[in-house]
Amino acid sequence: MPEDSKSKVDLEGVPETLLWNLYQRASEARRPDAVLKDPKAIGLVDSVIDYPFEERFGKASLGQWQALRARRFDEEIRRFIDEHPDGQVVALGEGLETQFWRVDNERVRWLGVELPEIAELRERLLPDDTGRVRTVGGSALDGEWMEHVDPSKGLLLSAQGLLMYFQGEEVHRLVAECAERFRGSTMIFDGVPPWFSQRTVEGKMKTAQGYVSPPMPWAVDAAEKDRLREIPHVAEVRDLRAPRGRGLLYGFVFPLANRVRVVRELGVSGLPIMAMRFEGTGRP
Ligand SMILES: C[S@@+](CC[C@H](N)C(=O)[O-])C[C@H]1O[C@@H](n2cnc3c(N)ncnc32)[C@H](O)[C@@H]1O
Repeated sequence: MPEDSKSKVDLEGVPETLLWNLYQRASEARRPDAVLKDPKAIGLVDSVIDYPFEERFGKASLGQWQALRARRFDEEIRRFIDEHPDGQVVALGEGLETQFWRVDNERVRWLGVELPEIAELRERLLPDDTGRVRTVGGSALDGEWMEHVDPSKGLLLSAQGLLMYFQGEEVHRLVAECAERFRGSTMIFDGVPPWFSQRTVEGKMKTAQGYVSPPMPWAVDAAEKDRLREIPHVAEVRDLRAPRGRGLLYGFVFPLANRVRVVRELGVSGLPIMAMRFEGTGRP
């Protein structure tokens, strides 16, 4: 497609990170032996978005890493959809994730929550033709989006690549509110370990091209998971292991390393992914 028929996308700060994720995922999905099938992501990067992906981020060397992480979220969402075929998935900070198209069972209802500028971009670049997908524009940190949630047929909350950009108190407040309002549901989320968080806060997480990751002040370790468990109505916080990938590193070394909790929490073999269950039945 000629460049001038593409949509120019100009983002900075945390919103720009959605393009990094998309770029990595699409580059993995393009491989014949991809660990994640994602034709929608390939279409966005190749034919829809006008953005200098390679110039800005360099080679997509973390494609498999990023795709395995997305696949782990997909697996949890599929499991939820199998049990609640008419349920609702709420994707906080959804960016240009194309997950809905990877997991759809043609019945599930999908609610994205994104900053207004990104909600508008998403609706433009990924229009819904099912009548079951919508995106609310606003911050995940203000409770407005909660008015649009319908937990009556089952609810799964997902915060993929979002919470690390918040302050600890903000994460705790958000979790407390969700645990109070959405009893019986589960939130799947990921985080970064303290060493990683520290490097981003110091502005030291950068690519050879000079792209600097925005600060990720919220870090997860065993103590932080215990703090989450202390929030009223949080019944459980458990680790989800990244799936086995391809090659020596992702197929053997990382899966082996991930069996050991302390190594898993170091986040060198994939960032920690977790599921947090809220107590209660979810029924009024
Ligand atoms: C790293 S991207 C993750 C995007 C997507 N979930 C993924 O995994 O590809 C972080 C996303 O969080 C969104 N975001 C940042 N602050 C937010 C907030 N307060 N409320 C909702 N979304 C937010 C950004 O716009 C961006 O799309």
